[in-house]
Amino acid sequence: MRRNRGRMVVVPDEPLPPAADRAREGVVPGETLPAAARAPLGERGTDLDPRFVAALPELLDVATRLAREAGSLVHDGRPARVDVAATKSSPVDVVTAMDLASEDLLRRRLAELRPDDGILGEEEGWTRGSTGITWVVDPIDGTVNYLYGLPSWSVSVAAVVDGATTGAPDPATWTALVGCVHAPVDGRTFRAARGGGATLDGRPICVNAAKTMAESLVGTGFGYLERRRASQARVIAGLLPRVRDIRRLGSAALDLCAVASGTLDLYFERGLRPWDLAAGALVAQEAGAQVTGLHGRPAGEEMTVAGPPRTAGELRALLEAAGADSDA
Ligand code: IPD
Repeated sequence: MRRNRGRMVVVPDEPLPPAADRAREGVVPGETLPAAARAPLGERGTDLDPRFVAALPELLDVATRLAREAGSLVHDGRPARVDVAATKSSPVDVVTAMDLASEDLLRRRLAELRPDDGILGEEEGWTRGSTGITWVVDPIDGTVNYLYGLPSWSVSVAAVVDGATTGAPDPATWTALVGCVHAPVDGRTFRAARGGGATLDGRPICVNAAKTMAESLVGTGFGYLERRRASQARVIAGLLPRVRDIRRLGSAALDLCAVASGTLDLYFERGLRPWDLAAGALVAQEAGAQVTGLHGRPAGEEMTVAGPPRTAGELRALLEAAGADSDA
């Protein structure tokens, strides 16, 4: 146990529990799952090169340690008033000094612990490695929440392999090996290893049982460009009357983990970058979610939809009909 801001938080260091012990009620038998998720949970890693399978425990340990170390730096070092250090794609797409310091810490620690792996980070881009493994890191996911002192932000650390490209790893073709999403304000840590299930603070988690669309609580997020936001507003206007409600929490990594742990039924967003989804999508998949794009395409920047397979399929159909994967 570890003390976090006056309350006791269980910080498990034990291995993930066996597949057979995990709750599965959110996954409706016979539904169409992507090939990787169709195999029994504990056997999903068997399509991997054995050297990556053997590395999973160490990789998960590194992901967890680094997400927590960066999380502590960012949380404990937050000044009373956070300033914008720079802007990116638009004036509302901000970077704080802590985004930069956190990515710097992650890169320094990876250079010590896994010096031959590649790194793809939100702030400093891609550094090629030689092992086939790349770390995909978001030093603060939910920077606008961090800026304003809202609690929903996280540090996201994943390790992926992608033999399909000679460039930076791409969510459309990579295989995520491990992922950790740590939310420093309340101390929650979501973790997953490919084929090993997903946990929240060491306890197995599972998506909610599929519900009707009208009973589903749906998370989403908005881009930083005016044109995209106008199109997203149109999609939301069509969806809102058909669902229980909509939530915009402000950290895509935590949104995906919310689906994994049942605090959201469904989630969709257009515009996610690789670091926004690398760890959270694996946590969601390992908790029984289907995570895809629209029109049979993989999850990625064009669109990411996550949820129990049947309702994720219904949401995809609504989003496809609304043309939600375009900014028109
Ligand atoms: C953002 C958050 C947000 C999502 C944006 C992302 P950042 O990441 O995940 O929830 O709606 O699309 O860019 O910029 O805070 O790392």
